[in-house]
Amino acid sequence: MKVDGKDIRPIWFDKDSETVKVIDQRALPHEFVVAELKTVDDVITAIKEMYVRGAPLIGVTGAYGVYIATLHSETDDELASECRRLKSARPTAVNLAWAVDKVLSEILSKVPEKRTDAAREEAAKIAEWEAENCRKIGEYGVGLIREISQKKEGQTVNLLTHCNAGWLACIEYGTATAPMYAAYESGIDIHIWVDETRPLNQGARLTAWELGKHGIRHTVITDNAGGHLMQHAMVDMVIVGTDRTTYTGDVANKIGTYLKALAAKDNNIPFYVALPSSTFDWTLRDGLADIPIEERDPDEIRYIQGSDQGRTTNVLVPPEDSPAANYAFDVTPARLVTGFITERGICKAAEDDVKRLFPG
Ligand code: MRU
Repeated sequence: MKVDGKDIRPIWFDKDSETVKVIDQRALPHEFVVAELKTVDDVITAIKEMYVRGAPLIGVTGAYGVYIATLHSETDDELASECRRLKSARPTAVNLAWAVDKVLSEILSKVPEKRTDAAREEAAKIAEWEAENCRKIGEYGVGLIREISQKKEGQTVNLLTHCNAGWLACIEYGTATAPMYAAYESGIDIHIWVDETRPLNQGARLTAWELGKHGIRHTVITDNAGGHLMQHAMVDMVIVGTDRTTYTGDVANKIGTYLKALAAKDNNIPFYVALPSSTFDWTLRDGLADIPIEERDPDEIRYIQGSDQGRTTNVLVPPEDSPAANYAFDVTPARLVTGFITERGICKAAEDDVKRLFPG
């Protein structure tokens, strides 16, 4: 996507320095920092500490991690063990294990001298595939927004999103944001309510930055405002991303998503989840029981980051000695989801419908 007129992606292979580079998303929106990933430990740190985040991007970063692992591993066992370390960097987004396994299985059939090039090419292919998936999600999703716009006779369509499921999380277009970009490009009048998404404020810091750079009208709200807006007909549709979705339709996404889905149900507002097929977990039936929910450092809750006269800084919010608990994701049961917007079209959040769209 374009930032100040320049094409940029959240991850790329820099041919001049022969290194993998990423936007360090921790610094946005007040600073634009690029980080180089040279070792498997760099990759694991970038994923754990959230220089990169968002399910598809974590997957692509893991895929490049396998390429980096081939540069430093002497034996198949060592390579496999580095891949296991990569896969355990964050537990909830299924894209990470999926992408690491995909690159590893692609290269293991090759002679060792060919593996490094093959791994880099496969990682690049996954990145292109995810970008194309998001473009298609936009193409399918825009129809839903157009329908609402027609019903409202051209009045502004108000969409609500949670966290950042934009291009920063996905290579290009985003998942939840792809239909928004497509609607904007086709001249539909839209406005986005952006949940700030505590504790790390991916909505306020990243989604607001992305939409603003693209010229899309948006308003940042507290995480708790959505229910009130829905009760007062100020939200026409909710679109969120996901980190792992069972084939039965349960959706793990950033903490707080479930509450938005409950409020949407109570107010008869469509609640859509946009996802590429790499985010389906084809092994899990019961999301609530079986999707691992990441618990992160409580300091992410205790401290809040912002800009103080041009300098990014952290401040302590609760009393110094109050404990905090940081559950990073929750699971929205399929019954609260109106539908999935995927690269193959739109379907119900139900096993039969998902399997009809993705047979085999
Ligand atoms: O903790 P994060 O920032 O990695 O969480 C990201 C989300 O919850 C996104 O909504 C999800 O990964 C979908 S990204 C297209």
